[in-house]
Amino acid sequence: MADPVEVRAAVDADVDAVFRIDADRADAQWSRESVAAEIGHAGAVVIVAEAATGIVGFCAWRRLPDVNEITNIGVAESARRRGLATRLVGAAIADCRERGVSLLLEVADSNTGARALYEGMGFALIGRRRRYYRSGADALLMRMRCEGTSDPPGSPSDGTSGATSA
Ligand SMILES: CC(C)(COP(=O)(O)OP(=O)(O)OC[C@H]1O[C@@H](n2cnc3c(N)ncnc32)[C@H](O)[C@@H]1OP(=O)(O)O)[C@@H](O)C(=O)NCCC(=O)NCCS
Repeated sequence: MADPVEVRAAVDADVDAVFRIDADRADAQWSRESVAAEIGHAGAVVIVAEAATGIVGFCAWRRLPDVNEITNIGVAESARRRGLATRLVGAAIADCRERGVSLLLEVADSNTGARALYEGMGFALIGRRRRYYRSGADALLMRMRCEGTSDPPGSPSDGTSGATSA
């Protein structure tokens, strides 16, 4: 039977685990200090996915006045392709729907796995920043409109299905 995974708000004791998952990727975003700052930031939400073995994923977003923006997401390599990122982004979408705002994110053009995740969930491409990353990759700006929607992302009546133009 699959190991059950709980999704919950991150606490200070999760800093190391979140840092390690982020540090494992080639283009790591955060220092330990920035993980701690994000968890303690009043305008930020950080959630973690916890299995019996420990923290296996996280997602962070900022609640800005008119929009939410995902600032980072990561799933431990050993726990990938089991729907965890979908659950984590789903929690960010649920928060947007409660606030009645859209959800933005930025992803490297070269990050085909993350792009497939977001496109599959119904995010639409709304902008491109050329050679934005140190690697030379473009940054893609993607948005999911969550205002006034209550259907699961990607469903026909959701208004976002098929809207992706990447
Ligand atoms: C991108 C990432 C968060 C995806 O996490 P995950 O838990 O494996 O994603 P899910 O299992 O929810 O994937 C859902 C769908 O997204 C797509 N997808 C996810 N990873 C993919 C990959 N590496 N290649 C192709 N498609 C992928 C698939 O359609 C997948 O459905 P399927 O497994 O039924 O085919 C994870 O690979 C990761 O942590 N990467 C390093 C950090 C990173 O790139 N973060 C994004 C920054 S913008």
